[in-house]
Amino acid sequence: RKGRTPEEVVRRYLQKVRYPPEEDCTICMEALAGPSGYKGPGVGGISRAESVGRLSQCGHQYHLQCLVAMYNNGNKDGSLQCPTCKTIYGVKTGNQPPGKMEYHVIPHSLPGHPDCKTIRIIYNIPPGIQGPEHPNPGKPFTARGFPRHCYLPDSEKGRLVLKLLLVAWDRRLIFSVGTSSTTGETDTVIWNEVHHKTEFGSNLTGHGYPDSGHLDNVLEELRAQGIAEEDFISQ
Ligand code: APR
Ligand code: ZN
Repeated sequence: RKGRTPEEVVRRYLQKVRYPPEEDCTICMEALAGPSGYKGPGVGGISRAESVGRLSQCGHQYHLQCLVAMYNNGNKDGSLQCPTCKTIYGVKTGNQPPGKMEYHVIPHSLPGHPDCKTIRIIYNIPPGIQGPEHPNPGKPFTARGFPRHCYLPDSEKGRLVLKLLLVAWDRRLIFSVGTSSTTGETDTVIWNEVHHKTEFGSNLTGHGYPDSGHLDNVLEELRAQGIAEEDFISQ
């Protein structure tokens, strides 16, 4: 992926649209038939004749310049996500800072899962300096509450979730750097959009067991990050 310009990346996922529909681009809210309303850095030089594209899988249409601007606003990993339906093109990655993910089985059962043991995941991320993919590059970030311990039932579905979480970790999607909604602290490591259970025998925070829908919710959240079971069967 390295060496491709943002415009080249975006174009890979687009089909040409000769006659734009009489609709607005939902990125810039201007007519698709007219020019992009987005005049961000590095999006110039695209001729009017090829200014609208259709995303190849979901079919949503945008100004090419708007998609390039959106891509430039993200972490430029070669992937693109449709802002309307969230379809992911390429492999989505995040901006989780360096750290460690470990897991092991402990011989105790979680509330609601009396018939199996428990998987404990331990995440450890040290504080550091923000990179170009973070909100304030060059500025330090804090890392509170690490190591963070999380729990899954050691059932078939729990082991599937673990397998997909390991993929999410490799793709830097478990944590992010930003403002904690719990503490209000800025420039700190925060959970990304995949929920974890951090309480073992209690449920004081709401992030504990029992919670019969938890595994299905997590599978749905992982799917929204582009990680699903069927993607790994053939690999
Ligand atoms: N355990 C698990 N998930 C949590 C927790 C928690 N104690 N608190 C919040 N979350 C979820 C939220 O529901 C939200 O979806 O994490 C997401 C981001 O919330 P933030 O408060 O921004 O995340 P963060 O600051 O990382 O979490 C706060 O979680 O694990 C603990 O030690 C951590 O006390 C800290 C707390
Ligand atoms: Zn779409």
